Amino acid sequence: MEQPLNLMTPEVRANPYPLYAELRQLPPCQVEPGGMWAVSRYEDVVAVLKDPRRFSSAGLGRSFLPPWLERNPTAHSLVMKDPPEHTRLRGMLSRTFGPAALSRLEPRIRAIAEQLAESLVRRQEVDFVADFALPLPARVLNLFYGLEPSMALHLKRWADDLVSIPASQPTPQRIAEVRHSLAEMERCFTALIEERRATPGEDLVSELIRVEGITQEEILSFLFGLLPAGVETTVYLLANTMFILSTHPRELERVLANRALIPRLIEEVLRYDPPGQSSLRLTTEDVALSGVTIPRGSLVVALMGAAMRDERQFPDAERFSLDREGQSNLSFGHGPHFCLGAMLARLEARLGLEALFSRLRGFSLSPGEVRWSHSIIARGPLALPMRVEPAEH
Ligand code: HEM
Repeated sequence: MEQPLNLMTPEVRANPYPLYAELRQLPPCQVEPGGMWAVSRYEDVVAVLKDPRRFSSAGLGRSFLPPWLERNPTAHSLVMKDPPEHTRLRGMLSRTFGPAALSRLEPRIRAIAEQLAESLVRRQEVDFVADFALPLPARVLNLFYGLEPSMALHLKRWADDLVSIPASQPTPQRIAEVRHSLAEMERCFTALIEERRATPGEDLVSELIRVEGITQEEILSFLFGLLPAGVETTVYLLANTMFILSTHPRELERVLANRALIPRLIEEVLRYDPPGQSSLRLTTEDVALSGVTIPRGSLVVALMGAAMRDERQFPDAERFSLDREGQSNLSFGHGPHFCLGAMLARLEARLGLEALFSRLRGFSLSPGEVRWSHSIIARGPLALPMRVEPAEH
């Protein structure tokens, strides 16, 4: 009997696109790990994401609350809910991500980006992930929360610990570490909410407190949920951009010569090698999709990374090109759970790359194999050692 296709082998994580091409030849089918149902064609991925009644997100939170944890507010965050509760909560929360909040943050994000870019070109031998791609979103999220700058380092550790919960078969030491992180997060966010109740400011938490009808637990779950949603994804967007440019010298030359191309570059990276590769859902009934019946209660992985290489939607899909025009991108999801932070992520990436490219003549990756994240959801390099050449001024 043929082995089922496996999404989690090291070769596939290093480059999932050949397997995605194979999957697109098939209707939805069961794959490893765990016999989940893989959906890979553009049309099918859209059908899954826009139908929360039959492809539910409620229930996914259980993986964030394994038997060895008594409490984890992430398990009840926005992305783990279905309508009508999701609709109600999202309506209350979405304003905090609106254009007003972003224009307030923009000059401060630019200042962070310029500081990081300046230090990068001064040092020249760097790890792009540790020295730029990670500190930028960690410091921005810190700012967004309204925490002290020194907290940015904790945010990354907390985000990593949260992301590790569903996948792990933890040792007693790991359990203790994760519990410790969760307790630290809860203390920190609870204190922050108290402070802002006493002295409101112009930050996210003050905005959340002002929302009519929101509960303390909903605010906490939201603050917890932003960590896995908002750090790793943006790190990988920046890192994937540099990785792709390292193998596309003509495109690198074009963007360095013309920084107005940066928004196009970001959109094409989001399509060609998206940091958010997939979204998970659970079927609430037997569902027919492309002629196949997925049974009720199945775990479905909607592979946006595969859908965005679908020739039926993106001609010449396997080619990275800065000249694509207005094709709709699934990188931030689709339908009711469309990423709340999409505008913020695009803004961070644009300001980060503008600050960097204005100081850069070129760069080259250090020799050696790149290690990739071991996840079907978030894709990017764990480290990207490189030598940067500063621009001559
Ligand atoms: C390049 C960076 C990012 C990518 C690729 C990304 C991707 C996604 C995707 C694919 C979803 C949908 C998940 C699903 O359908 O189950 C999502 C949801 C979400 N994202 Fe992002 N995201 C990014 C950055 C951010 C940032 C910076 C924030 C906030 C600080 C954020 C906050 C959220 C939230 C709150 C949701 C849940 C929305 C809902 O369930 O209604 N994201 N994101």
